[in-house]
Amino acid sequence: MNTLTIVDNRTGKKYELPIQDGTIRAMDLRQIKATQDDFGLMTYDPAFMNTANCKSAITYIDGDKGILLYRGYPIEKLAEESDYLETAYLIVFGELPNSAQLKTWTHEITSHTMLHESTKKFIEGFQYDAHPMGIFLSTVGALSTFYPDAKQIFDESGRLRQIHRLIAKVPTIAAYAFRRGIGWPYVYPDNDLSFTANFLNMMFRMTEVRFHANPVLTRALDVLFILHADHEQNCSTAAMRAIGSSHVDPYSALAGAAAALYGPLHGGANEAVLRMLNEIGSIDKVPDFIKRVKSGEGHNRLMGFGHRVYKSYDPRAKVIKRIADNVFDVTGKNPLLEIALELERIALQDDYFVTRKLYPNVDFYSGLIYQAMGLPVEMFPVLFAIPRTAGWVAQWQEMLLDPEQKIARPRQIYTGPAPREYVPLDKRS
Ligand code: CMC
Repeated sequence: MNTLTIVDNRTGKKYELPIQDGTIRAMDLRQIKATQDDFGLMTYDPAFMNTANCKSAITYIDGDKGILLYRGYPIEKLAEESDYLETAYLIVFGELPNSAQLKTWTHEITSHTMLHESTKKFIEGFQYDAHPMGIFLSTVGALSTFYPDAKQIFDESGRLRQIHRLIAKVPTIAAYAFRRGIGWPYVYPDNDLSFTANFLNMMFRMTEVRFHANPVLTRALDVLFILHADHEQNCSTAAMRAIGSSHVDPYSALAGAAAALYGPLHGGANEAVLRMLNEIGSIDKVPDFIKRVKSGEGHNRLMGFGHRVYKSYDPRAKVIKRIADNVFDVTGKNPLLEIALELERIALQDDYFVTRKLYPNVDFYSGLIYQAMGLPVEMFPVLFAIPRTAGWVAQWQEMLLDPEQKIARPRQIYTGPAPREYVPLDKRS
């Protein structure tokens, strides 16, 4: 019988709640009251440790087995066979495209890669040393001012237009944010190139007529983008859904999602990994660093390790480790790799990490590849945000079309003072 029987020991009353998909509905608890005027029972779940906030058909994770599927397809297979734009289509529409659909999709994305010229002007307004992720998320938010039609979120074709625009424009914004920091002139998109080759073109082209990205690096970037495209209800996706639930336009919602991604516990972790490896400096310092992490000294964490969901090796980290060698064959080995490998070797044998099931996550090795490709550390969270845009827009659309969803509005347990008299200033101690 798929039910849960609850006996309220305050009243002796018995309740039978249906269990569906391994969950009970929190609202079914509301009927459980100690007294007539009681509000009803709630659950308390800081950080959503055990609360499903939605039903979703996009991404499946089995954290114990290290399984990640996009729309049912294993991440390893997509990393081998697909490219980012095809994967983005799969994530948004639910099925792999046929060749006509892929052609149209690619055309729609590539024809929306340009930014309005005045975008440059406000990017110029940032402080000379502005972090590119700050520029990125502000600029994405500012796009809403160019597209007032984006407010029509229940118009299907309008929504699709914003999805095209967002996926298409984020690499251009990212490249502009990068070039702004070093004072290089902005490079317009080259729509004859693939999504990732064009991104490298906008990042690195100098005076040459045509930029020829190394195909090994272009493919590696495609794989990294596939791996980062969605990851179900993580902090930034939950932010995208929560902000979008107010029915704001998707640019504003995505700016909030990108802000959530910026934090060092989320998409800022790959940047933090590189800083950590630099701080460690050499292999012989690894044991001492691990000791400091375990003692909690200086609030150190082993960045790139641990995950809320994965309690085994992150399948994305496995794929990244595999492609790292291809990249290093072209770029030369990143000297920090030795330190990273030693950290992993020691941590995976150490009781502290073993008992807490802390394994390398996607961010542990991705930064090493990005750095070897000539991408600066500050760009790492931006490089995460570009492909995650596909996941954010797909999850946003799924939320909007879900008849069970409403504006996100959690409850709280109030711990402040009971009603009291206002004390005039001259009477306060
Ligand atoms: N180094 C050392 N100890 C750790 C680490 C770590 N990286 N991660 C977790 N722990 C310990 C933590 O101190 C706690 O120990 P205790 O039970 O003794 O208090 C235990 O492991 C459980 O940790 P938690 O903080 O309750 O776990 P969480 O699920 O809330 O946090 C996490 C998940 C990813 C925020 C955390 O593992 C972390 O801070 N990792 C480092 C940052 C990082 O690499 N983030 C990238 C995540 S993957 C990319 C993405 O999806 O954004």
